Amino acid sequence: MSTTKKEYKRVTVKSLVDMKKNGEKISMLTAYDYSMAKIVDAANVDVILVGDSASNVMAGHETTLPITLDQMIYHASSVIRAVYRALVVVDIPFGSYQSDPKEALRSAIRIMKESGAHAVKVEGGHEIKESVKRILNAGIPVMGHLGLTPQSIYKFGTYTVRAKEEEEARKLKEDAKLLEKMGCFAIVLEKIPAKLAKEVAESVSIPIIGIGAGNGVDGQVLVLHDLLGITQEFNPRFLRRYLNLFDEMGKAISQYVDDVKTSDFPNDDEQY
Ligand code: KIV
Repeated sequence: MSTTKKEYKRVTVKSLVDMKKNGEKISMLTAYDYSMAKIVDAANVDVILVGDSASNVMAGHETTLPITLDQMIYHASSVIRAVYRALVVVDIPFGSYQSDPKEALRSAIRIMKESGAHAVKVEGGHEIKESVKRILNAGIPVMGHLGLTPQSIYKFGTYTVRAKEEEEARKLKEDAKLLEKMGCFAIVLEKIPAKLAKEVAESVSIPIIGIGAGNGVDGQVLVLHDLLGITQEFNPRFLRRYLNLFDEMGKAISQYVDDVKTSDFPNDDEQY
C-alpha cells in the first residue's frame, strides 16, 4: 500500500475514496464560522465538518439536540465562503431527517442550496435507511455516523464507549455495510473499541473516519475547539489538545483590559 501524499486542488468525495485506496490518512476537523474555516482550510485539512457540535461549542447547549436547520445553514454558509480546498460536510440536525424520508430530503436540499455545502452527514444506520436512500437518489453525497451518535444521547443515557457488547458491535458492522451498499461516501465512527473500528475499516471500501476509534481507520476527526484548547471541561481519553487557547486568549484579553485601565492603550502611534 502506497502512502504518497497527493496534492488535491479541491478535495471531493472521490478524492477521499482514492486516499483510502492509496493508504493516505484523511484529516477532518470541525468549523462553524468564516474566520476559523479560513485557518482550517489554509492548513490543508481535507474535510471540514460543520458539525451540530456547534450546538455545544458555539451556542453553549448541553447537547446537540437544540440546534435548528436554519442555524446549521447559517454556520455552513459562513464556512463555505472561507473554503477553497476542503470538502465541506454539514450535519443535518436532530429532528430534520428522522421522521420521514421526504422531510430528510427537503432538509438536505435546503442545506445544499442555501449554504453551498458539498455533502451532508446523518447519524444512524438501518433505522434511517429510507431517508439516506432518498437523499442519495437526489444526487447529494451522504456521510454516515455510527457508534456514539450524540443526537441519541437520551437513548444511550451516557457518553461512554459504544459497541463493547457483541450484539451492538454486530449491528454496527451491519450498519456500516448497509451505508456502504446504499452509496454513502464515508462513515464517521465515534467512541468505539479500536479493534472493532479497524475491522469495520477493513471490511468496507469507503473511508472510515474515527473519533475515539483508534488508529486502524482511514482518517481522524476532532472538534476544532477541543483541539485548540478553547473548551476546558471536555477531557475524553481520545482528545489530543494542541494548544491551550483558553489560557492564551485569556492572557491577551487581560493585558488589553490592563492597558485600557492604565491608559497605556492607545499610545501616540495608535491614534489619528
Ligand atoms: O458534530 C460533530 O462535531 C461531529 C463530530 C464529533 C464527528 O459529529
